[in-house]
Amino acid sequence: MTSDGNTSKRRIVVLISGGGTNLQALIDATRDANFPGRIVAVISNKPEAGGLARAQRASIPAETLDHRAFESRETFDQALMTRIDRHQPDLVVLAGFMRILTDDFVRHYRGRMLNIHPSLLPRYPGLHTHRQALAAGDAEHGATVHFVTEELDGGPGILQTRVPILPGDTEASLASRVLKEEHRIYPEVVSWFCTGRLSLGPQGPILDGQPLTAPQQRSSSTY
Ligand code: GRF
Repeated sequence: MTSDGNTSKRRIVVLISGGGTNLQALIDATRDANFPGRIVAVISNKPEAGGLARAQRASIPAETLDHRAFESRETFDQALMTRIDRHQPDLVVLAGFMRILTDDFVRHYRGRMLNIHPSLLPRYPGLHTHRQALAAGDAEHGATVHFVTEELDGGPGILQTRVPILPGDTEASLASRVLKEEHRIYPEVVSWFCTGRLSLGPQGPILDGQPLTAPQQRSSSTY
């Protein structure tokens, strides 16, 4: 480590579309001098994303690349890759980035792009996960951090957190219970990646030298 303490840290680019509470959890985690990564840029596809102000407050370069200025998904993703790669990231973190990604984009970042999804994958890929869990009468719900692959919300899971569904829960109350847990597990997985404990092998994730055949589990009571 050099005198600025930064050059040995992995370089992280975070992509957002919204409020950025997961981004905030990462910003807070990286404030710890021992955290093995640093956020070198935040990029939003929406100029109004609240997360941009969070980045600015933390003195992290924040950029917008508005997808509406592009004629196709392919041209947007190509431009986004160029923007991201300017920052030479070791890791790309999707934190509420509400875009379906092209296969070219996903392949380009294979093994170095993470996402968090608010459900116990493989249950409920896609949108409205909290509504679906309530409608199904599930007893529990949660969130999953996974490597991103070409299949939407289908990449191999790394860490899951589980919360109970309580009588009287609404979409909002359940979403907020899950989100609180997301803020715990996402920085944890990012730190595993940045220290080299976690990678994506040809058969799936490898954690501490062992194949991860199923996601690691946490529950709110684990913390
Ligand atoms: C989170 O629930 C995340 O799992 C999902 O989008 C939401 C983003 O929230 N992918 P925030 O912008 O991090 O507050």
